[in-house]
Amino acid sequence: MLSIAVAKGRLLDSFLKLLSQANYNCEELARETRKLVIDVPQANLQFILAKPADVPTYVEYGAADLGVVGKDTLVESDKEVAELLDLNYGYCKLVVAVPSELNISSVQELDFNSRVASKYPHTAEQFFNSHGIQVEIIPLHGSIELGPIVGLSEAIVDITETGRTLVENGLVVLDTIMESTARLIANRVSLKTKREEIAELVNALEGVI
Ligand code: PRP
Repeated sequence: MLSIAVAKGRLLDSFLKLLSQANYNCEELARETRKLVIDVPQANLQFILAKPADVPTYVEYGAADLGVVGKDTLVESDKEVAELLDLNYGYCKLVVAVPSELNISSVQELDFNSRVASKYPHTAEQFFNSHGIQVEIIPLHGSIELGPIVGLSEAIVDITETGRTLVENGLVVLDTIMESTARLIANRVSLKTKREEIAELVNALEGVI
């Protein structure tokens, strides 16, 4: 059986649609349950329901053979895993944003040592370092848009999908750090020990992406 770590929510729903198009019937997962490990014997798959940021960790340590994770989270995690497929859904952008009333249009205009709140501290740090801009990164776990509103930070680095959260919180985009979609990742040892099963799944998914 192949085990797949995936987070509940949008990424899982789209992945299940893709699997069903590829003739892997996993309707067990559509049922409401609090179980964290769900076996789907007819598809020869086991699902491990993890938090999004933890998916690369389960895969790196071999607790899961495969994982489904956003490229943004994968880059931030910096884990030793193999990226097998761009699943082509879950599109979003990782951006630097500031309150519109700051009246600046580029990251170079940020004040020296500006505070930047983010759920992506490593990626944010790398971005500002590569531009030679000195900032203080403040790691948060969610609702990042709050940062500038409550005076915690001058800027944020966060993902945006429709752009609605930024607009409703008075923020504008200064720069795009990266674009992201969902990726299928694999444990490097599983790639060898379960080569045929993984190849079969990858081929089937490629056929419907
Ligand atoms: C994400 C992200 C933004 C929002 C962007 O938050 O952090 O807040 O979605 O989506 P939009 O551009 O379509 O408005 P998520 O729902 O993952 O919760 P979080 O803020 O707690 O991380």
